[in-house]
Amino acid sequence: MILYYSSTGNTEFIAHQLAKRLDDSAVNLLERIKTNNMSVLKSDKPFIICSPIYVCEMPRFLASYLKKAILKGNRQIYFVFTSGGYSGIASTLAKRLAHQKKMIYMGCADFKMPRNYIISKRYPLQSRDENKKRLLGAKEKLPLVAAAIKRGDRLKSRYIFLFEKLITLPFNPIWVKYKQPDELFYTKDTCIGCGKCARVCPVNNICIKNRRPVWQHKCNHCMACINACPVRAIEYRGSTEGRELYHINKYVNKKYL
Ligand SMILES: Cc1cc2nc3c(=O)[nH]c(=O)nc-3n(C[C@H](O)[C@H](O)[C@H](O)COP(=O)(O)O)c2cc1C
Repeated sequence: MILYYSSTGNTEFIAHQLAKRLDDSAVNLLERIKTNNMSVLKSDKPFIICSPIYVCEMPRFLASYLKKAILKGNRQIYFVFTSGGYSGIASTLAKRLAHQKKMIYMGCADFKMPRNYIISKRYPLQSRDENKKRLLGAKEKLPLVAAAIKRGDRLKSRYIFLFEKLITLPFNPIWVKYKQPDELFYTKDTCIGCGKCARVCPVNNICIKNRRPVWQHKCNHCMACINACPVRAIEYRGSTEGRELYHINKYVNKKYL
């Protein structure tokens, strides 16, 4: 069983492609995370967790959901990450998570995908050509990863240096606390009050008041709300105005999903 979370479609694409190749099912965890649904997930095949990378690790809301999730059946667990090119210490934490769950850690695979962190000018998005190149690269890598999982091989991830752990572990809580505030999200008059932004928020950070989204200050910066808006009515002050947003649907035909 493939369990995934995805805000802008990269991880969803990889999860569904793996599911097709492994003749397995891909389960979107969004609703389960939002509603804290801990009903049993049972699989005869190995569990495969597909996750984006947020600041050098798995999103914390996903990691804490998985920690509590009841996974029954097969005891093997693989991890597949999508990132903008640097997955940091995610594999170390994935191994730790597998051990905490008393499961057999089968390794991690990394897919270098288009970067989706659009609200900071410090991390500019790639060009459309670069995005296409990355997606092509991912498509080429997919059959190799699927074949290794099918054979029951352990996936080999790169070596994590001690300094990476020493930097990331204390840095992340600081980032989480002091990251750019969600007060800077705003809606334009084109907002139709459809509530899609609230529905895609994994941490229920958005409530709709007077047909407009209001952010509740526990944002994880996943970029789902701003990218999901059907009329592009959401902006982040000082950084997204006039910029192209990112969602994989702009590049990949929906039939792949
Ligand atoms: C809050 C946030 C933090 C991110 N941090 C990293 C990072 O540390 N390293 C990296 O290579 N990409 C990083 N990215 C980029 C995403 O991991 C990448 O675009 C991923 O494929 C998005 O997956 P999704 O479309 O399934 O949500 C970050 C994105 C977000 C939204």
